[in-house]
Amino acid sequence: MTNKVDLPLQERVQLLLAGDAEMLADPFPTWNQLRDEHPVWRLSDAVVLSRYKDVRELLGDDNLLYSRAATKHSQRYEEARERFSVEGRDAFDAVLDQEFQQLVRLDPPDHPRIKALVQPPFALRSLKAEMEEKVTARVTQGLDELAAVDGVVDFKRFAYTLPLTVLGDLLGIPLGDLEQIHEWAKRIAENKFNADSEESALEGADAYRGLMDYIESLLERQRASGATTGLIAALIDSERSGAMTHDESKAMVALMIFAGHETTSNLLTIGMLSLLTNRDQWEALVAEPDLAVKAVEELTRFVTPAHFLPYVAAQAREIDGVQIEVGDTVIGVLAAANRDPSVFTNPDSLDIQRRESRMHIGFGMGTHSCLGAGLARMEAVALFRQMAERFPDAQLAEQPFEWGGRSLRTPLTLPLVLNAR
Ligand code: HEM
Repeated sequence: MTNKVDLPLQERVQLLLAGDAEMLADPFPTWNQLRDEHPVWRLSDAVVLSRYKDVRELLGDDNLLYSRAATKHSQRYEEARERFSVEGRDAFDAVLDQEFQQLVRLDPPDHPRIKALVQPPFALRSLKAEMEEKVTARVTQGLDELAAVDGVVDFKRFAYTLPLTVLGDLLGIPLGDLEQIHEWAKRIAENKFNADSEESALEGADAYRGLMDYIESLLERQRASGATTGLIAALIDSERSGAMTHDESKAMVALMIFAGHETTSNLLTIGMLSLLTNRDQWEALVAEPDLAVKAVEELTRFVTPAHFLPYVAAQAREIDGVQIEVGDTVIGVLAAANRDPSVFTNPDSLDIQRRESRMHIGFGMGTHSCLGAGLARMEAVALFRQMAERFPDAQLAEQPFEWGGRSLRTPLTLPLVLNAR
């Protein structure tokens, strides 16, 4: 049987884009080869960009060259609508209608209008005042629980729960409801863009209904209780003044749940794995836990929690002899761009004191750059700092692990022995 890593490049790239578990265990040799040999590559139904300069331009584009909203009308979706029954088509459209109200998929003029309304609570000063104490307390409490375990702990489980709990704090969702929220979000993620299956469309629409009804009642409760700070207050105020519609406000809460959970969880999980498998870097952090701030920047580059993202070309153009037509899907491979040797020296090595780490595009670029980057950094800094302080002898309990996900690649478990001193 052929080992998948020996397959031709094109097949390996396609396996990675499809989320093949074996390839996900070590995707970087393939991404690097793609960038070095075919930086602009037309695969069957998409153009793949992998150089830093091209992916940076793609992510940072202000809807001149690429569109986000246009993805809603891709050919695959139109074909699915024609194939599905009336019920399936309605379900598929209901999911797309929800998705394409979310900030990350909006073009101007809606995008800048809504982003300006939701940015203030994420400004560093507001975020520190509202969230820093809560985040630190959640990290401490979680690590206390891990420290009490005798033997091997699954760090992944903890790193999966922490960002969800923090989102609960940010959005005012009671702890007891988070499991149900997670369940809806998971069903939506698994089914939402599956243009091949009518059952999936129905399943995705059903989960969306559950989540959006919950968000409706959450906003209602907070409006009644008079929320005065944070994102929810900004949403309620914006609705009241007519700057944002009620549906836009609900879509914002939904996007927070989707965008803020697994991305952060993967940074924490794979970040921890990367530190422990690059022992000199872990030792450097243990010797100086304040390095956590720099380490998080480097880990965001090194791990790149969102490996690739798709867009649609809004203008015909040619890059390096490859013709891109209006309507083509264009995929940017952030994971390859963040290891582009023209920007990062020795890009495949983890160096938590690297000077150019901040050049990474792991949180996107420009107008659509990540709204929650400050919060994600806050969680990661608190976690890695406390881990280094409390568990300097931490070790992996076993290798290798099974990997899953797709663009959001992750090990399914991360067994550690913490060896609290
Ligand atoms: C390590 C964790 C995270 C990573 C790696 C990450 C990555 C990204 C990336 C790459 C984008 C740009 C997407 C694009 O241009 O198409 C983005 C956008 C976004 N992220 Fe994050 N994210 C993280 C955490 C969070 C958190 C914690 C939240 C919410 C609390 C959040 C909310 C958002 C939102 C709302 C957008 C859309 C911004 C816009 O379109 O203007 N993210 N994120």
